[in-house]
Amino acid sequence: MHVLVVGGSGLLGLEVTRQALAAGHSVTATFHSGAPSLASVAWRSLDIRRRDDVGALVDAAGPDVIVNAAYRQADWVTTAEGATHVALAAAVTGARLVHVSSDAVFSGAAVRYDETHVPDPTTPYGAAKAAAETAVKGIIPSAVIARTSLIIGDGASRHEKHVHALAAGAGSGFLFTDDVRCPVHVTDLASALLELAASPYAGIHHVAGADAISRYELGALIAGRDGLDPAALPSGPRASAGFPGPIDVRLDCTMTQARLNTRLRGAREFLPARQRGTM
Ligand SMILES: NC(=O)c1ccc[n+]([C@@H]2O[C@H](COP(=O)([O-])OP(=O)(O)OC[C@H]3O[C@@H](n4cnc5c(N)ncnc54)[C@H](OP(=O)(O)O)[C@@H]3O)[C@@H](O)[C@H]2O)c1
Repeated sequence: MHVLVVGGSGLLGLEVTRQALAAGHSVTATFHSGAPSLASVAWRSLDIRRRDDVGALVDAAGPDVIVNAAYRQADWVTTAEGATHVALAAAVTGARLVHVSSDAVFSGAAVRYDETHVPDPTTPYGAAKAAAETAVKGIIPSAVIARTSLIIGDGASRHEKHVHALAAGAGSGFLFTDDVRCPVHVTDLASALLELAASPYAGIHHVAGADAISRYELGALIAGRDGLDPAALPSGPRASAGFPGPIDVRLDCTMTQARLNTRLRGAREFLPARQRGTM
């Protein structure tokens, strides 16, 4: 199978690329600011805001499957219009599309969300992700739209870097004790996306971790895994701080998990504590 990973240079896209290669697929992957050094991949520069460029690249690569993990949190054009360009190109070539979305499409009013809930975003980023979902669904009804939550790696995610900075007294801000999500490990997420790509399923799927935990608990788990002192992490409630955006959003993955061999571990499982000072 030939897999095209759009946003292959990002945290998730790189892991999808690695796993697709390991499974014996040929892989074309795109970057925007710089190509990673991973070999055996056909790296291509792409700006998904440019509709014609996206069409030309997909036409030339001729993939069986496209996984779209590209986005820019503060840029509507990349996140919403870029996703539309990828879906249009996939429709022209007949490629199977797996589009990555976010729990940010929800306001948190319902707290627990399964795949039947319709988006009610309250932030520009959430609105862009919801618009992208609508476009993808309208252009390719058979596409998979995979909503996920905080993506954690083995130190590489921005969430882990933020915790490391706070633990070192170098970062600003604090970790919310009331802001709840379902963090997922990037290896579980990438594996699930490739499984869904090879499946006959269509439409919305929730692909997040099994544990609903606060950002502070997540930070403490990261610190514990990395031999740092959780007590050094500044913490406090988000609700009283007046930050905009959803507070408590829990993706219910029951339906999707039943369709997968990949087990979507919770953060308490994939972030085991280790001895301090062994990092
Ligand atoms: N990270 C999370 O906690 C989280 C939570 C929920 C949902 N998600 C979703 O998961 C997906 C992947 O997230 P991630 O954390 O892996 O993101 P990431 O590490 O920030 O990677 C983003 C990717 O998009 C590419 N990109 C940015 N602007 C582009 C443009 N104009 N044209 C083409 N490519 C562009 C980047 O390329 P360069 O790096 O080369 O510039 C990079 O490959 C996204 O759909 C995101 O909405 C993420």
